Amino acid sequence: MTHFLALETSCDETAAAVFTDGLAVRSSVVASQTDLHARFGGVVPEIASRAHLRNLLPVIDEALAKAGVTLADIGCVAVHNTPGLVGALLVGVSAAKVLALGLGVPLIAVNHVQSHIYACRLAAGRDIFPCVGLVVSGGHTALFQCDGPLAMTLLGGTRDDAAGEAFDKVAAILGLGFPGGPAVEREAAAGDPKAYALPRPFADDGRLEFSFSGLKTAVMYACHGQDVARAKPPEPGPKRANLAASFQAAAVDVLTIKCKQALRKTGLKRLAVGGGVSANKPLRAALTAMCAKEGAELFIPPLSLCTDNAAMAALAVEKWSRGEFAPADLDAEPNWI
Ligand code: KG4
Ligand code: ZN
Repeated sequence: MTHFLALETSCDETAAAVFTDGLAVRSSVVASQTDLHARFGGVVPEIASRAHLRNLLPVIDEALAKAGVTLADIGCVAVHNTPGLVGALLVGVSAAKVLALGLGVPLIAVNHVQSHIYACRLAAGRDIFPCVGLVVSGGHTALFQCDGPLAMTLLGGTRDDAAGEAFDKVAAILGLGFPGGPAVEREAAAGDPKAYALPRPFADDGRLEFSFSGLKTAVMYACHGQDVARAKPPEPGPKRANLAASFQAAAVDVLTIKCKQALRKTGLKRLAVGGGVSANKPLRAALTAMCAKEGAELFIPPLSLCTDNAAMAALAVEKWSRGEFAPADLDAEPNWI
C-alpha cells in the first residue's frame, strides 16, 4: 500500500491530507485564513501567501499525526499547482518539491478544478464517470463533460464573475461580512425569494455559459435605488433578508437550469458538483429535484469536501497509476481555463 501526502495552498485555505492508493482518506486538515482577510472584505493575495508560509508545516505535521504515519511512510507527494493565486500556489508547490526530493518519492501535480469534481468520486466510493461536472467556487463557475477523472472538456464557463464571487459581493452590498456564501445563505433563510424579480442571465437560451455580474448589480440597485454612491448597507430586517433570498433564488435557478441543459445536450445521466458554492443547501435541494425529474444521478460531496481541501487531490492516485509524474522543475500556473 502506498501513502500519499497532498498539499493545497491555491487560495485562502492551507490544507494537507494523507490518503492511500486505494482512495482511503486517512486525514484531511484545513487551516482557514478567513479571519485574516475578513476586514478587507476579500482575499488579499500577499496576506494569503504569508499565511500559507506560516501554516503549511504545522498543517502537514497534523495531517501526518492524524493519519498515524510519519514522512518515512509517504510514498508519493501530490500538490495542486493550478489554478489559483500564483504566490499562494508557489508555497505548496515549493514545499511539495522539497518533500518529494528529500524523501526520494514521485511528485504529482494536480489541477484544483479537476479535484473539485474528483471529490464527488471520492465521496461516492465508486466510479462516477462519464458525467457532467459543475464546478462552482469563488474563482470558477464552469460546466464540463467529464469522460474520465482526467478527461474533462469545457462545455462553458462564466463570462464575468464566478458564482461564489457573486455571493461574496452581494454579502458585501448587504453588509453581511466575509466569506459571503454562508452569510447570504443564513440571511436568505428568513427572506422571501420572490420579493424581488431579479434577472436569470442566459436562462432562456441554450448557451452553457453564465454571467453573474449583472445579477449582482441588480441586487445593488434593488437595495439602494439609483443613489448607489452614498449608500450604506441596509439595516437588519425584512428588506435585507428578502434581497438575500431573491439573489440566492436567482443564482440557484441559473445554476440548476444550466446543469439541466448540459445533461440534455450531452445525453449524460450523471451530474457531479464541486466547489465551495455546492455547500449551499438550497442549491443542493434544487439540483436534487432537477436530477430526479431528469432521471439523472446526482453526486455532491459532503460539505467538508465541497470547500477547498487537500483530500480531493486524491485525483493524484489516477495519475500515479498511469505513471504521470511531475518534473522537478514543476511550476505554479495561476490560469487554467
Ligand atoms: O471552493 P472554494 O472553497 O474556494 C475556491 O476554490 O474558490 O469556494 C469558496 C467560495 C466562496 O466564494 C464562498 O462564498 C462560497 O464558495 N461558498 C458558498 C457557501 N459556502 C461557501 N456560497 C454559497 N453558499 C454557501 N453555503
Ligand atoms: Zn476550490
